[in-house]
Amino acid sequence: MESLLQQIGAYKKEISSFTATDEKQVEEFRIKYLGTKGLVKAVMGEMKNVPTDRKKEFGQVLNDFKVFAEQKYEELKQLTDNGAASSGQQIDLSLPGDPTPMGSRHPITLMKNRIVSIFQRLGFAEAEGPEIEDDWHNFGALNLPPHHPARDMQDTFYIQQNPDWVLRTHTSNTQIREMEKGRLPIRVVCPGRVYRNETVSARSHCFFHQVEGLYIDENVSFADLKQTLYFFVKEMYGKDVKVRFRPSYFPFTEPSAEMDVTCFICGGTGCNICKKTGWVEILGCGMVHPNVLQNCHIDPNKYTGFAFGMGIERPALLKYDINDIRLFSENDVRFLKQFSSAI
Ligand code: PHE
Repeated sequence: MESLLQQIGAYKKEISSFTATDEKQVEEFRIKYLGTKGLVKAVMGEMKNVPTDRKKEFGQVLNDFKVFAEQKYEELKQLTDNGAASSGQQIDLSLPGDPTPMGSRHPITLMKNRIVSIFQRLGFAEAEGPEIEDDWHNFGALNLPPHHPARDMQDTFYIQQNPDWVLRTHTSNTQIREMEKGRLPIRVVCPGRVYRNETVSARSHCFFHQVEGLYIDENVSFADLKQTLYFFVKEMYGKDVKVRFRPSYFPFTEPSAEMDVTCFICGGTGCNICKKTGWVEILGCGMVHPNVLQNCHIDPNKYTGFAFGMGIERPALLKYDINDIRLFSENDVRFLKQFSSAI
């Protein structure tokens, strides 16, 4: 009987020093000690040879041995589960963690946020609208009835399944949707993606982004439009930048204008960006056409308003010194991660 005790002692030593680094080794341990043909079973089988007067004593010893092996098994399992199994070492909680790489904002988002936040300081709210739009909200309500020649100004993508649907060609659709809500006054900026069937090149793309603005109230005048845009330009491009308005044409505004700023690359002396003119065109604007107000059930004799719209890509190209518009939509992380700390 003493040899059985010795044998158990030896097994316990073996078990204590057993180490496992992966699940396979833990399984080997289970088979060797706890399996149906394992050593624990074999030792338990010796019970029948123990004299009756020592059965109680051995019952205890054998049971302890079984529990000992089972505990070790649980321990090994846990260690490998945590991926930290090694010669029974504890997990070192003071080790530095794996750093999670920081994401970054897209340069178009950064530029959009900059533009929107300037108008927010003047009390404009942000509004969004659908990119798939019906003809009425993209054209009709904006004073572009069917066959109006100005529809050709914007090469439209039509949706095959439903000839009444288009990919919006400007975010003016959102302005119509805001006016239709019937809550006045309105002061909103509408950022978003728009689509035009243009050849993709380094300078133009078949989709791009705009921010449009709309202000409708009693007694809104062209002077309000100019002051609002002056404020925007000073905040965006600095106080030394000069502004000029040129008469223009949009079906949904009357009068209409385009606004230029002195070239913020060369400061007005003439470079490639401003094509040696010293001026860069940044937006279109005008007083909302009475037909548009009427289309949205707003009384043009009581209310007036102004609207403006600008692209986001061009100012972003200039600000971040990017030479190809296609980079914005290629999702190349080597490009995108450069803007992690940009504002
Ligand atoms: N919707 C015009 C465009 O897409 C921009 C614009 C908006 C012009 C509002 C005047 C007033 O180009």
